[in-house]
Amino acid sequence: AMFVAVYLQVYITNYMGQKITHNIRMDLFKHITRLPMRYFDTTPSGRLSTRVANDTKNLAEFFSSVITSLVKDVFLLVGIVVVMLKMSIYLGTISLLILPLILVSTLVFRYFDRIAYRKVRTRLAIINAFLAEHISGMSVIQIFNQEKRKAREFDNVNKSHYKSLMEQLLIFAVFRPLMDLLYYLAIAAIIWFGARGILEGRVGFGVVYAFTSYVEMFFRPIRDIAEKYDIVQNALASAEKIYRIMDEPEEKYNEEQPVVKSLRGELEFKNVWFAYNEENYVLKDISFHVKPGEKIAIVGETGAGKTSIISILNGLYRIQKGDILIDGRSLYEYNLQSLRKKLGLVLQDVFLFSGTILDNIRLFDKNISKERVHEVVRYIGAERFIKRLPEGYETEILERAGTLSAGERQLIALARAVLYDADILVLDEATANIDTETEAIIQKAMEKLSHKKTVITIAHRLSTIRNTDRILVIHKGELVEKGSHEELIKLGGVYYDLYRLQYELGDIA
Ligand SMILES: Nc1ncnc2c1ncn2[C@@H]1O[C@H](COP(=O)(O)OP(=O)(O)O)[C@@H](O)[C@H]1O
Ligand SMILES: [Mg+2]
Repeated sequence: AMFVAVYLQVYITNYMGQKITHNIRMDLFKHITRLPMRYFDTTPSGRLSTRVANDTKNLAEFFSSVITSLVKDVFLLVGIVVVMLKMSIYLGTISLLILPLILVSTLVFRYFDRIAYRKVRTRLAIINAFLAEHISGMSVIQIFNQEKRKAREFDNVNKSHYKSLMEQLLIFAVFRPLMDLLYYLAIAAIIWFGARGILEGRVGFGVVYAFTSYVEMFFRPIRDIAEKYDIVQNALASAEKIYRIMDEPEEKYNEEQPVVKSLRGELEFKNVWFAYNEENYVLKDISFHVKPGEKIAIVGETGAGKTSIISILNGLYRIQKGDILIDGRSLYEYNLQSLRKKLGLVLQDVFLFSGTILDNIRLFDKNISKERVHEVVRYIGAERFIKRLPEGYETEILERAGTLSAGERQLIALARAVLYDADILVLDEATANIDTETEAIIQKAMEKLSHKKTVITIAHRLSTIRNTDRILVIHKGELVEKGSHEELIKLGGVYYDLYRLQYELGDIA
């Protein structure tokens, strides 16, 4: 019976612990997926993975190992105190007097250990962040022969974690003997007062003898609880960090608004001011209007703010002043998720998930049939590229997709946009690393698509934008010129300079 009871107890507490942790981890991940991009700009990804993976594990440990033994220890403690007091009020009270001493020393220990523990945790997070960052950037490390220097840097990070662990160990090393000392003190007190009690005829010899072993039983749960502080500490520190993330306000998705079925494709920027960090305006007072079905290009030198225009159009970042209107209605009043489906973005650096090409195009949505995906790929003329792959649509892509060129990844993104039937297409042209063949495919696909859709092309090579209706020129965050290619050349301003520069480099034939 005892065995079954213990088994059930262990099973149930572990089950509950794992269940609770599972739920917290799920909620945390869901919450993170809904945080605004600004948050990810300022938070290392390694730190976030530590939160989701490790900190939730600490909570599990707390639930499964501490709670059970805590309940057991508390019962044991109360039981012993009752027995002691019943046997002899006199010796029982004396034994209890040692309690404040234990309490004070535990509190002191707890205080120092907490500080040490925090240090250990932050340094572990630094290690995680360091690893995540450097594994992502491994090609740069190898190309620039940074292996040795990075190893040294990692050694430092690692060592400082080790040092903080040793500090924590030192605190433990002091605490353990201190508890032993208190234990012997208690035994000494029992014998001393017990002897006097026997002489005065207040207690019997047997009672004093029994008390010396009770004191041991009295100390064991206390020491147990004190040592579990380690785990409690971990759990508290972890819980605090998890709550800090949970407290971050989520992006406003306006889910109560109706789902966007289709757009006419009208777009207007009205005196838009935007900064990534409060005061440094990256876009200054931008205003322009795009008619449904119009085809415009945005040009400007690197860092001018072209990609930022796309990021705010997609609602990844919020503007500070002004407004963005889509079909005459403010972007911020739309049901954001459904709006995003109707904005087809082909970004400079397309991210692919681990999975097949097919799944990357349909974004793992099994409701979209293979045939539909094939149809779209044929429509945009990207079939040839897929056929070249070893297993066609079923080719597995690894994380970060180092095996596909930027242009090929853009084709996948373009197929995504067409598949979701986007009404406004935005293409952020990859600069030099796009091969002419892929570029030609993309060009042709865009021409085909633009009959019905509003198209915004961000162009680095002016040769690719000859047949747009209008060109907007961005310079240092300001919209400085707009008009057709001929008009802008005649104007002899920023666009003319860009054009001449590329002409001289032989980029425009
Ligand atoms: N996530 C970000 N956080 C802070 N600053 C950024 C961020 N992204 C871009 N910037 C800055 O905004 C400016 C415009 O960048 P961007 O719009 O990417 O230019 P472009 O696409 O024209 O080359 C640059 O000075 C760049 O450093
Ligand atoms: Mg850019």
